[in-house]
Amino acid sequence: MAQQKTADAELSAIISKWKHVEGSLVMMLHSVQDKLGYVPRETAMVISKETGIPLAKIYEVLTFYHFFKLNPPAKCQISVCTGTACYLKGAPEILKEIEKCTGVKDGQSSADGKYSVTSLRCIGCCGLSPVISINGKIYGQVKPAQVKDILAEVEKTGAAK
Ligand code: FES
Repeated sequence: MAQQKTADAELSAIISKWKHVEGSLVMMLHSVQDKLGYVPRETAMVISKETGIPLAKIYEVLTFYHFFKLNPPAKCQISVCTGTACYLKGAPEILKEIEKCTGVKDGQSSADGKYSVTSLRCIGCCGLSPVISINGKIYGQVKPAQVKDILAEVEKTGAAK
């Protein structure tokens, strides 16, 4: 209850800050996503009601920019670098193995919210290629045969429960 009140107050503060600034819808949505990790439909509806911006317009923006997420972040967010260095050292095979182990395709999340899999361009660790990142932790020189163990380790630490 107290948590909901805090969330409502934060949303009101975000709306008040940007409401009268022309062209600020994107900034408002960024602020929401910074706080929640995604933009819930109920929040988009409140923004629409409070600002008078049609909900369809808000969704036009949310779906145009790939940065915005419409669903809560998965507990175990797996990113696979498919930049040139990683690609040449086997990123496609690693991605395939991750998809097989998690049952989640690139760009998607599991229905239970446990895993998300995303391929990215260079994440700046080319010296360690091929590289994956799980919840921000970098794993370098990954081989497809290690994927199962890495996921088990993540599971053990509780990040994927
Ligand atoms: S290409 Fe993968 S980290 Fe640079």
